[in-house]
Amino acid sequence: MQRFASIFGVFCAVTILGATAQAKDSFDFKSESFDLPAGERTFTGPGADPVNNNCLTCHSAGMVTVQPHLSKATWEGIVKKMINVYKAPVPEADVTPIVDYLSKGPSASK
Ligand code: HEC
Repeated sequence: MQRFASIFGVFCAVTILGATAQAKDSFDFKSESFDLPAGERTFTGPGADPVNNNCLTCHSAGMVTVQPHLSKATWEGIVKKMINVYKAPVPEADVTPIVDYLSKGPSASK
């Protein structure tokens, strides 16, 4: 019991000292503004609009243009994965135009 009391005492002292130390190091929050290096590349060519509207929110165009030539079914699978797995908010009506554009071979501005 004695042993428990002393261990408990040390525990309390450490906790209290820890809390005091933390209180002293309080933060000063200040606003900073900085520019992230924006991905400025956009998809180009006929039918690029729905792709620009839906596919540049989370990653750059390069993530798409770096892919090899893929079949329509594969692109459809990728677009569905973006929607179902990564929760890309792509309107249903845009899915077919996006898949059509991608399966013709996506291109992006430099
Ligand atoms: C909600 C965020 C989000 C949106 C919007 C989004 N993606 Fe993705 N995408 C991801 C994530 C996360 C990955 C995986 C990144 C990694 O593996 O490093 C990814 C990866 C990819 C890849 C790489 C290959 C693969 O299968 O992982 C391709 C191609 C791709 N996305 C295409 C698209 C297209 C086309 C669209 C528009 C329909 C789109 N993405 C919209 C999140 C998104």
